Amino acid sequence: MTYLQIEGTNHLSGSVTINGAKNAALPLIVSSILAKNEVKISNVPEVEDIKTLISLLKNLGAKADLNHHEALLNTTTLNQTTAKYDIVRKMRASILTLGPLLSRFRHCEVSLPGGCAIGQRPIDLHLLALEKMGANIQIKQGYVVASGTLKGAEVLFDKITVTGSENIIMAAALASGKTRLLNVAKEPEVVQLCEVLREAGLDIKGIGSDELEIYGTNGECLEFKEFAVIPDRIEAGTYLCAGAIVNSKISVCKVNPSHLSAVLAKLEQMGFGIIVENDSITLLPAKEIKPVEILTSEYPGFPTDMQAQFMALALRANGTSIIDERLFENRFMHVSELLRMGADIKLNGHIATITGGKELNAADVMATDLRASSALILAALAAKGTSRVHRIYHLDRGYENLEEKFKALGANITRLEE
Ligand code: UD1
Repeated sequence: MTYLQIEGTNHLSGSVTINGAKNAALPLIVSSILAKNEVKISNVPEVEDIKTLISLLKNLGAKADLNHHEALLNTTTLNQTTAKYDIVRKMRASILTLGPLLSRFRHCEVSLPGGCAIGQRPIDLHLLALEKMGANIQIKQGYVVASGTLKGAEVLFDKITVTGSENIIMAAALASGKTRLLNVAKEPEVVQLCEVLREAGLDIKGIGSDELEIYGTNGECLEFKEFAVIPDRIEAGTYLCAGAIVNSKISVCKVNPSHLSAVLAKLEQMGFGIIVENDSITLLPAKEIKPVEILTSEYPGFPTDMQAQFMALALRANGTSIIDERLFENRFMHVSELLRMGADIKLNGHIATITGGKELNAADVMATDLRASSALILAALAAKGTSRVHRIYHLDRGYENLEEKFKALGANITRLEE
């Protein structure tokens, strides 16, 4: 198995170019199921989750290729409507195929994604919304079996769900009549999906708000235009935290700073300087790293996908920080690994109390999920000695060229085989 060996350091410098957002590219690639033409998408990150999705589309009979960050997708040849367990189990976001497959083919079977390390992660809200639109849904042998002709409906999401919103937006696109969605997620990734569908001819109103009106095409596929995926705000935030944890000046380029407002606000509260230019952000060292209070919430609140990285950073603060994880019930898997490095963190339900300022020592640590893994890399950078981060396949799901990017910042990081 592959692992990363990381030497502790007290300095990084330079700049990192940020890739396209994985979580935007996933629904955008899936949305090609709604297209009547070949879809060309640029700035697609070449990470494992995207490769898994491309193989799922191929498995369904589509032509799908990813080269030099450009995806070419032709779903006019799609002749299967079963998203198999073998692929879905590798990536929960495969559930995004449910809405578009059902609305285009009126029948599909998508394996239930099951639980994952960060919590139970149900899809009940996706299913309830489709039922409201007239779908007949049954769970058979671990698969969601859905059929029916979708009709516009009014859907109020009980909870804000990112992939749930995306799934139902795509379902509504080819349905008949008007769908009104309330309490929709406003994440930039959801907004880009709506914009791309609008460009493709869909009549959709309220983009960027939590209320959408979608006038379905009654089965008529859409004519997609070429577009580029928005920058990955979580990748950008992770590298900013890397600079911060060793209190060094670093820059991230090719980003959309407005997508990072909550993250930048917390870095400023911790004492770091932030210089925002058009599509770059520079982090300046803090005179003193101050403790912070963080409550994760839906966009534009502080993203749960940055919680683990800020926990690592809080270990360097001069005082006690509080992190309240409100979205996922089990998203503190990184804590036990950070404790092995000498961290002082106390957990009480969904609240973590982090006492900063203790020296961190290198250790062998185990990655448990995508963002937890990046927190371990950050902690290893700040620790004394050489750490090894195991199970890095989690990282490869979402970070492209991670070692090269860290090396470019001056880190001593190597990918090795056990
Ligand atoms: C997406 C992101 C993930 C991010 C998360 C929250 C993708 C591919 N993944 O995940 O990186 O951490 O948003 O920002 O974009 N819920 C239900 N029932 C449902 C759906 C969700 O109870 O049917 C709950 C979840 O358990 C969770 C909350 O709603 O507590 C938010 O989850 P959701 O926004 O759906 O997360 P994902 O879309 O899976």
